[in-house]
Amino acid sequence: MKLSKETLRRRKNTGPKITMLTCYDYPTAKLLDTCGIDVQLIGDSVGTNILGYPDVSMVTVADMVHHIKAVARGAKKSFVLGDMPFGSFKTKTLALANARLFMQEGADGVKIETEKESVDIIAHVASSGIPVCAHIGYTPQTPGLCPSVQGKDLERARELITLAQQSEKSGAFMIVLELIPEKLSRLITDLLTIPTIGIGAGRYCDGQVQVILDTLGLSEKTFRHAKTYADGSSLVKDAAMQYIYEVRNGLFPAEINSASMPDDVFNTLSHALSQKATAL
Ligand code: KIV
Repeated sequence: MKLSKETLRRRKNTGPKITMLTCYDYPTAKLLDTCGIDVQLIGDSVGTNILGYPDVSMVTVADMVHHIKAVARGAKKSFVLGDMPFGSFKTKTLALANARLFMQEGADGVKIETEKESVDIIAHVASSGIPVCAHIGYTPQTPGLCPSVQGKDLERARELITLAQQSEKSGAFMIVLELIPEKLSRLITDLLTIPTIGIGAGRYCDGQVQVILDTLGLSEKTFRHAKTYADGSSLVKDAAMQYIYEVRNGLFPAEINSASMPDDVFNTLSHALSQKATAL
């Protein structure tokens, strides 16, 4: 059965902690679903991680829909969360239209990067019945914001607490806290009744999210907030190099990888072709 927003909300009180990974494609979605991941996030990080864009501001609604559809086909139990890309929630009307499109194409909810201006947008989308996950702290779509820990100083820390409370009041059912000091994220987690999902926000959030390529060792960079659980790069490189070697040296395909045909058909063909060659 599909995980609902109500079940995710309850997990704040009942545990276990909520697990979320980014996912961008069908085969990975199927694998993560089998493993029992709670939430599969089609993050706008698809732009930099999968599509080779220089930054997330280039990600379009069409890009997101393409990947949401693929993940939704594979995620039978996990909650599918679609990230609203840069420019897709500029106005209430635009935000609701795009959020509805995401839901139509297989998302179970949407995530909206949250600064002061987007609180009303969250309220508008959530009031239509669409589950909305807020996202505060380091928000990669904010022009000019450096990828650094947010809320170390009093002013920004107060701002983040207010944003978190306003997000909950606006109807968000969950909130991502990205690159926030552990003490501040613990405070926010204790203040809110909705679950907090941390990335680079320490140990005390109600759940955690990671970019899947970071966990699989497939990213070009390493980050303090991430943990590499597998050496995916070596795995892919070793397999590809072995394949190249075997094809070049006639080791692949082997007989076992090849299809046979009835001897009589082959003999008739060969005979006919050799007769033709003689005639020539
Ligand atoms: O796009 C993304 O991958 C995200 C996560 C880092 C939360 O927003």
